[in-house]
Amino acid sequence: MKPSDPSAANFSRRHFLNQTIAASSLAGLGGLISSQSEVQAAPTQNNKAEKKHAVRFAHLTDTHVYSGRSAAKGMSEAFQHAQSHDTPPEFILTGGDAVMDTLATTLKSGLEQWKIWESVLKNDCSVPLHHCIGNHDVWGWDKKRSKTKGTEPGWGKGIALDQFEMKERYYTFDQAGWRFIVLDSIHYDENIIYRGELDQEQFEWFAKQLKNTPSTMPVIVISHIPILTASDFVFGEILVTQPHRRPGLSHQDNYKIMKLFYQHPNVKLCLSGHTHSTEVIQLHDKTFINSGAVCGLWWKGNHYHTSEGYNMIDLYDDGSFDHEYITYNWEAKK
Ligand SMILES: [Fe+2]
Repeated sequence: MKPSDPSAANFSRRHFLNQTIAASSLAGLGGLISSQSEVQAAPTQNNKAEKKHAVRFAHLTDTHVYSGRSAAKGMSEAFQHAQSHDTPPEFILTGGDAVMDTLATTLKSGLEQWKIWESVLKNDCSVPLHHCIGNHDVWGWDKKRSKTKGTEPGWGKGIALDQFEMKERYYTFDQAGWRFIVLDSIHYDENIIYRGELDQEQFEWFAKQLKNTPSTMPVIVISHIPILTASDFVFGEILVTQPHRRPGLSHQDNYKIMKLFYQHPNVKLCLSGHTHSTEVIQLHDKTFINSGAVCGLWWKGNHYHTSEGYNMIDLYDDGSFDHEYITYNWEAKK
């Protein structure tokens, strides 16, 4: 956790969580927008015979698990489905919004949701996990509805970091010759609660990571809030009547990020969640993929044209990739 993070309360997170659980007795944007199939084909055209498969992983985002609508069963089925392929993923990357919501809930409600998350992972995930923090994983930033003051231990991102066993809000790891850079998109805004943005410290760290990555090493960037999205088309009506929600839809600093990206042709792919929509944008030499949502419309059915599902990603040693959005045939409970 970085000192500049407004949610970085100084406490032992795991210890706090264990204690608290016990105590609470809680047992289009200037680029070319292409269809998924078109973009999927493009990176695989080069040197098809020569390139080697590097790694397969699943991106499961926006599970929004909680006690209602059989969400725990749905999350279980999604994780089981993702691991049941003939060629299973080597790891699972969760994309944020693990739980239904803790931004605007009491601690008791938040911990109940996290307990379900922890239980499903324990029972239904046997591959390594990497996590990315989402806006609904942050506790109490909506002070009025969560009845918080902002001084409580774990307020903000502390509990989520503890659940995800993340030492920092943002981090990197290398797998099969690719560098993964996981960002924390969720920036506190006292007027609208959050917006998509990297704090200055994180941005400098991000620039340094890219600079220090060999130019021959392909990079994949993961964020919860999309760096680039065409979801204005989907949410246009909402944004007209609720314009304060626009800064939370996508990264408000994407012009800075793109400027950085142009210095690094080895940045190949950006993955995100948040909008609960499947989306692929090819902008110049970068591809931006949004991985829908495990929960669809928050366990109420399809979200617009997106069914409950996840993305399976295959990376190759030449920096190309394939992706497929896979539904797991969940039927929303009434
Ligand atoms: Fe979400």
